[in-house]
Amino acid sequence: MGYEAKFKVWRGDLDGGGLHDFTVEVNEGEVVLDIIHRLQATQAPDLAVRWNCKAGKCGSCSAEVNGRPRLLCMTRMSTFTEDEVVTVTPLRTFPVIRDLVTDVSFNYEKAREIPSFTPPMDLKPGDYRMQQADVERSQEFRKCIECFLCQNTCHVVRDHEENKESFAGPRYLMRIAELEMHPLDVADRRELAQGEAGLGMCNITKCCTEVCPEHIKITDNALIPLKERVVDRKYDPLVWLGNKLFRR
Ligand code: SF4
Ligand code: F3S
Ligand code: FES
Repeated sequence: MGYEAKFKVWRGDLDGGGLHDFTVEVNEGEVVLDIIHRLQATQAPDLAVRWNCKAGKCGSCSAEVNGRPRLLCMTRMSTFTEDEVVTVTPLRTFPVIRDLVTDVSFNYEKAREIPSFTPPMDLKPGDYRMQQADVERSQEFRKCIECFLCQNTCHVVRDHEENKESFAGPRYLMRIAELEMHPLDVADRRELAQGEAGLGMCNITKCCTEVCPEHIKITDNALIPLKERVVDRKYDPLVWLGNKLFRR
């Protein structure tokens, strides 16, 4: 059975904006993105929202629903009671372009700072061999859909614009961890992690892990192991040499 829901949607741009009230029809099985599309179709044709797949796989529709970072296409209306006001706002950590669309280029800049996969020079195609455990570790990290919900949530940058320059955020620290633990990668990313990427600023609050729609254990499986490796190497050159020789 359908019902009429009360929505508050943030509308505006970099110069300012505010919450606009809407009453809108909701049908069984719908998600928040369906309601935003109905608003576009019936009441607010110029409402800006970014989306693509409507299947939780493109990472485009990230926003905040009742203050929680979420994918709009994966947030079922049945999560809310029928009399609950549903408030939809843009990601807080990134500058607004218009309405629910934010400028996420911070993330692309951080991605570009990480040197790509670097196999040994003498390794020929066909000689790439890895243990299953190493394959599985990489596969977990590669489930990332780049929705940037973790980047938006981490308190290091969420309310601290000034930290953005010196902190890559959980998604890109995870990328460094993936390469650092990759048995066929010979580049040393120790200094990058500790320096430019600001690994030391992460104090393991795990908020990034909580919001990840792919359920990647960002903190436990990427950030903490990366911290351990960086500390090991920093204080024990033999550990560093051993890691490289045996490609742990
Ligand atoms: Fe999104 Fe998870 Fe990737 Fe972060 S790690 S960008 S929350 S999919
Ligand atoms: Fe931020 Fe995640 Fe660390 S939320 S502080 S990157 S554990
Ligand atoms: Fe692709 Fe939501 S529209 S993840």
